[in-house]
Amino acid sequence: MKNFPMPRLDTNPALYEGLLKHCRLRPGQIWDDPDGRHRIGCLNASDKSDIQALMKSDKGALAIHDPPYNTAAFKRMDVVDFIAWCEQWVDNTTQALADDSSLYVWIGADQNEGLQPMPDFMIMMRDKPFRSRSLITMRNQRGYGTSKNWMAVRQELLYYTKGKPIFNVDAEYTEIPKILRGYYKKVNGQVTENLERSKSTTIRAGNVWVDIQQVFYRMEENVNGCYAQKPLKSCERIIQASSDPGDLVLDFFCHSGSTLLAAEMMGRRCYTIDCNPVYAEIAIRRLERFRQTGKTGWQNGNPFEREMSEDAELIALIDNRRSSKSFEDNLENVQASLL
Ligand SMILES: C[S@@+](CC[C@H](N)C(=O)[O-])C[C@H]1O[C@@H](n2cnc3c(N)ncnc32)[C@H](O)[C@@H]1O
Repeated sequence: MKNFPMPRLDTNPALYEGLLKHCRLRPGQIWDDPDGRHRIGCLNASDKSDIQALMKSDKGALAIHDPPYNTAAFKRMDVVDFIAWCEQWVDNTTQALADDSSLYVWIGADQNEGLQPMPDFMIMMRDKPFRSRSLITMRNQRGYGTSKNWMAVRQELLYYTKGKPIFNVDAEYTEIPKILRGYYKKVNGQVTENLERSKSTTIRAGNVWVDIQQVFYRMEENVNGCYAQKPLKSCERIIQASSDPGDLVLDFFCHSGSTLLAAEMMGRRCYTIDCNPVYAEIAIRRLERFRQTGKTGWQNGNPFEREMSEDAELIALIDNRRSSKSFEDNLENVQASLL
């Protein structure tokens, strides 16, 4: 396994600054896919004119948004201000989606702070032209917490629809075999047991997803430098359930580009943005790498390996950090916690 990790960019401002010159997009710019399928913008999700520039006259069938959750990794906002900001990108999404479409939003609930912002977000959504359909929980393998509280292992995903979009139930079937027998019912006068009646020998994911491995550095799809990467399998499940091949999928908070890559792999188009040029660049590189090599990420390498080997400024930054004990300790701790 290649060992060329990159530290988290949100906690390493000097490295982030050093990478900016290697990014193709400046704020306001859009990268057009040479294959004509996707668009990646360095744009602001809450800015109406940015989203109009992205969409032109196109409409999405599905949006999968994963905004910052108003928690520690981001500059903190008051929850009222955070919800007012969410309302802006929700309104932009409403305009960008087709009449029959689906919206999924990953959102956190801070257990130490009144569980904000999830309930506040849900209430705000009641006045929007979306119908609530499900509250999905994805279970993480690792969690955070102390021995004085339940370990926090959940990620919440809200599912809304506008009009009457498709829902492909086949997307729900997991690889987990059905083992529970029982639930007898008469069908055409014959007593049948539930396994005889089922469409599949595996269970449905339902709205509690326990079968998705969260991303860590031993997985091929890992994108070092990113701190909030969603597993491809979760994106694939949503895309399969709520879109058809050829449909346009939107993601206004692309970060590592997981929605984009899943859309590429599943024959959908994707328009995705990040306000941060480095993440927009990472998403472009991830797509290009997949097309060139079939690989879904960098595992324990990183998207800027070439620059970090050739650019003297970056080499010095990395060397300085490597010689600092805290950096090595931190890296070891992170890797150990992921095992
Ligand atoms: C939680 S991460 C998304 C993770 C993503 N789903 C993935 O799998 O990699 C949120 C991203 O939103 C970006 N972001 C924050 N505010 C934004 C805004 N106003 N417009 C666009 N992107 C924004 C951040 O730079 C960050 O990369």
